[in-house]
Amino acid sequence: MDFGIYYDDAKKMFQLQLESSSYVMGLAGGYLGHIFYGKKLEDFPTDSVFRLGDYTYMSGEAKDKCTFMDGFPFEYPTSGIGDFRVSALDIKNGDGFGGAELKYVSHEIYKGKKSLAGLPSTFEGNDDAVSLEIVLRDVAGLIQVVLIYTIFRGIDAVVKSVRVRNISGEDMSCKQSLHITKILSSSVELPFRGHDIVTLHGSWARERIPDRREIGHGRVSVSSSRGISSHQEHPFMALVTPDTTENTGEVLAEAFMYSGNFVAETERTQHDALRMVMGINPYDFNWKLEPGEEFTAPETFLVYSDKGLGGMTRNFHELIRRHVIRSRYLHKMRPILINNWEATYFDFDMDKLLEIARQARECGIEMLVMDDGWFGHRDSDNSSLGDWKPYLKKLPEGVKGLCEKVNEIGLDMGIWFEPEMVSPDSELYREHPDWAIAIPGRAASECRSQFVLDLTRPEVRDYVYEAVASVLRECNIKYVKWDMNRPLTDVGSVSSRAGELHHRYMLGVYELMERLVTEFPELLLENCSSGGARFDAGMLYYSPQIWCSDDTDAMERLGIQEGTALIYPPSAIGAHVSICPNHIVGRTVDMATRGYVALAGTFGYELDITRLSDEDKASIKKQVADYKKYNDLVREGDYYRITSMSSLEQINRYSSSVSWMFVSKDKHEALFTYVQKLGGANLRTERVRLSGLVPDRRYILDGGDGKQFTGEELMNIGFVVDKLYGDCVGRLYHFIAV
Ligand code: DGJ
Repeated sequence: MDFGIYYDDAKKMFQLQLESSSYVMGLAGGYLGHIFYGKKLEDFPTDSVFRLGDYTYMSGEAKDKCTFMDGFPFEYPTSGIGDFRVSALDIKNGDGFGGAELKYVSHEIYKGKKSLAGLPSTFEGNDDAVSLEIVLRDVAGLIQVVLIYTIFRGIDAVVKSVRVRNISGEDMSCKQSLHITKILSSSVELPFRGHDIVTLHGSWARERIPDRREIGHGRVSVSSSRGISSHQEHPFMALVTPDTTENTGEVLAEAFMYSGNFVAETERTQHDALRMVMGINPYDFNWKLEPGEEFTAPETFLVYSDKGLGGMTRNFHELIRRHVIRSRYLHKMRPILINNWEATYFDFDMDKLLEIARQARECGIEMLVMDDGWFGHRDSDNSSLGDWKPYLKKLPEGVKGLCEKVNEIGLDMGIWFEPEMVSPDSELYREHPDWAIAIPGRAASECRSQFVLDLTRPEVRDYVYEAVASVLRECNIKYVKWDMNRPLTDVGSVSSRAGELHHRYMLGVYELMERLVTEFPELLLENCSSGGARFDAGMLYYSPQIWCSDDTDAMERLGIQEGTALIYPPSAIGAHVSICPNHIVGRTVDMATRGYVALAGTFGYELDITRLSDEDKASIKKQVADYKKYNDLVREGDYYRITSMSSLEQINRYSSSVSWMFVSKDKHEALFTYVQKLGGANLRTERVRLSGLVPDRRYILDGGDGKQFTGEELMNIGFVVDKLYGDCVGRLYHFIAV
């Protein structure tokens, strides 16, 4: 069967045929069960493998219904009626009692992909997309659930979401308000085959560190209840067979297109099945659904790879580049920017910025980004968020005047905002204290001396939007860094219902971003959240790049960028060269290696160029040239981890290097970056096996001695890297096919 979605009426099975995988579901007694997601099947399976013989209930004996409910592999499991495993949907009726029993009603298969109102969602783009909607109804007539699936040609990923409608009063049940206390976007079930679980953990300045461990019985979950996808855990989970390495083994992985609270959970059941679910965290979630109203859950991406973690990564990258990022910058070389944060922090004025701009221009840098501290009377992080008017002590000619002068020097201008926040010491807060999120009757906790604005309220959103948009309308600004520097706490509001604020807040943020990219389609938007606390597919729908971490030390970035690139394409990873000793960790790394690490992201600078030596400035000129030469390959090519920073593969425990490659789609060129983590005595030269090349093609090293290597030898015997001296020193090797 070719790419597409099929239904076999005799077998009562649905089959989604992807690039090299198949996703199969089937009906039994009206219940929808999950059958398989794995290596491609040429036809529908003969047997549904539901082992319905185990359940006397299926042969008409009502006395054993509970046993059936607790064993059947429901495609979308609900709680309250006998399935004690982790659920995807919990509904409370008008009296507060739980339970929903879903049975099949109808389905529709159609070409294309519908967007989700108010939420970021994948789009068809230039590839074929096919979608399936399966309608299920609660047997007591309270709710209708629509499970939505989309597949895209050429990618092994199933995009899933769910829509729930209150149908009470339409048929047999009384009209009543319902409460959704949990609505996840996806569930999938597979037999346990000794799987390990892979997740990402972290902290501020230490984001997305991979973690691999064995799965025991019971539940493993990662989540955020911070109102942001977070530094700490990540909306991602992968189940991998024990033999899984970078290039081998079976991987079933999931990521979430949402930027707020999430949960990802896997349960190894009493019968040794694995059920993996993902969606909005039910923590502090209680959504009232009036008769006729609908709730739509955000999308998840379920990726299958039988080519190990590398195959998983490249599937995610393709999906995100082709069907998530909308920005017109996606396929463009981004301007090389210099950001003044680490150069000056709050201590700057127009003259200082202009001096940075002048010297940056001489080195070939193309844009100046003015970071935090340009508004209100902000000399530290203690004031002024919300007062988005220029601080005239620092900018006597306003943002407009600065912009004009920067443009005269020959640079474009970018600016920082933190639109979602308000400082207690601000005009805005003094005027509208009730605009800050707080539980009525309780003083909210400050964090970085700031509160979160209640973006569930339209008048607050309008204020915030106008504050940002009026600056962009007045000044020639090409780039905005949209920051968000604290979690949501004291979650209460004078207008939003308890249990709904977290999600309504996210809908408010998405609405603001949608307005911004609609009014300013040429704007390059970069998201940020104390570094990378909101690095997720939801944000990538609005901004083609996200600041990855406040830790700009090249050695630390090896791990942070590698963990981030497990899911997200390097073209979206905000990465800059910064000053040494590094402000966060105090380490000194040579300038060339700092450049190699930043080249694997969006590239830019975060340092006071006016204080650099001539030697460092000469390095910048060389790096600028490298960026121009290699960025097409980095942005558009395929990414391969070669020797890894993380412990995902035990074999790399002994390697002292971290290396990766970008290979062009036509396999004509490849960029191999090699970084020695720690120098050591009496080390042998390393022979590193490359990936992604054509075995019988010949490649030469750009700038080398003309020696020709076959792809086969580079991938099987390995490439002998230069012997390096010192800690965190690197090399860049550019291979070209002859
Ligand atoms: C956090 C960001 O990650 C930094 O890059 C910087 O913009 C500061 N906020 C400014 O307050």
